[in-house]
Amino acid sequence: MDSAVRVADENSGDGSQSARAARAARAATTAELSVILPSFNEAANIPILIGLLDEALAGIAWEAIVVDDNSPDGSTEVARTIARSDGRVRVIRRIGRRGLSGACVEGILASSAPFVAVMDADLQHDETLLPKMLAELRAGDADLVVASRKVDGGTVGEGLSRVRAFGSNIANGLAQKLLNVTLQDPMSGFFMVRRDKAEALAPKLSPQGFKILLDLVSSADGALKIKELPFTFRERQHGESKLDTLVTLDYFGLLLAKYFGDIVSVRFLMFGLVGASGLVVHLIALRMFLLGGLEFNMAQTAASFVAMTSNFFLNNQLTYRDRRLTGMGAVVGMLTFYAVCSVGVLANVGVANLIYADPAYWWIAGTAGAIMGAVWNYAASSALTWRKS
Ligand code: GDD
Ligand code: MN
Repeated sequence: MDSAVRVADENSGDGSQSARAARAARAATTAELSVILPSFNEAANIPILIGLLDEALAGIAWEAIVVDDNSPDGSTEVARTIARSDGRVRVIRRIGRRGLSGACVEGILASSAPFVAVMDADLQHDETLLPKMLAELRAGDADLVVASRKVDGGTVGEGLSRVRAFGSNIANGLAQKLLNVTLQDPMSGFFMVRRDKAEALAPKLSPQGFKILLDLVSSADGALKIKELPFTFRERQHGESKLDTLVTLDYFGLLLAKYFGDIVSVRFLMFGLVGASGLVVHLIALRMFLLGGLEFNMAQTAASFVAMTSNFFLNNQLTYRDRRLTGMGAVVGMLTFYAVCSVGVLANVGVANLIYADPAYWWIAGTAGAIMGAVWNYAASSALTWRKS
């Protein structure tokens, strides 16, 4: 086809840009609101929730993006079945990754709508609040609307056990003190935000744990206009909660890391804590080996292996739980971890020796050595032992 013919062809009817735009517009109204639904084992809840959204959001151009971490209960397939007959429902299936915050971030980044809501997929959040939240954002007075379980009129309803409510109060209090975040319910998993604002902050957000809202607000450093609306947290009907001790630890890790101005990452902090626990393990093991009659050098070497092994398991459970090694991978990982830590000892002693000049400053040299060793162990083990696949 020569170029003159091609130009004529593109300008006539079907081939032209404007005709394509018209067809696209006829095919679907683009969403004004994307509702991100993170899910892990919510197969029983997803169909009910989509029905509730359909009622609550009548008259609004919405879409739902289910972000499922390859749930064993088949949530992905359940959501896809709905998506096949309802174009407003989209599904992201993540493989080899876990984490509520990360799932929410990926959902937000998959949206092109001006507004995005994040909402639990387990029916605990009140979907009838969504139109009110949207109205606030449309009015332009807020960049972020938080559905809060704490402000006047909102309650924790039947959704939180007494222990959880107590823990949640402590977590909120700390966030308010440490980070100057004035939110009533910084742990809420239910909010709506302008997508452009969330997208700009996305590179700063941690994918681990449940703390996406706190992370968003503290990363924005006061730049977000925030409104809070009260709601009653419903009781879970199907399936179970995934909030566990690790999630709580991770939350306090974020508080500390943000408090120290993001100089140290949450992961490094966790790695450091595990390292400190390793010292205790080392000393206990050393004492036992000495009592058992081993001579000092042997006992010290054996205790080092006990401590490294304990550190490996703790780091594998806590620090790198999103890249957790299992089976043969864990065996190989443990060997590389031994190798990394052995070099770490050299780095430690090397730096301590360089600095050590005057007996009065032995502790500075010792501390610098230990920090050097920890930094090396951290950098090398995250590159070798728990490398990103
Ligand atoms: N994709 C994905 N990956 N989704 C997850 C994961 C995960 O690793 N973990 C949990 N979810 C989903 C659940 O399927 C559910 O839809 C939602 O995230 C909330 O998880 P729950 O396990 O039901 O949390 P909860 O009810 O105990 O906790 C609620 O209160 C917390 C504060 O106390 C939630 O609203 C949290 O968002 C909130 O931080
Ligand atoms: Mn829940």
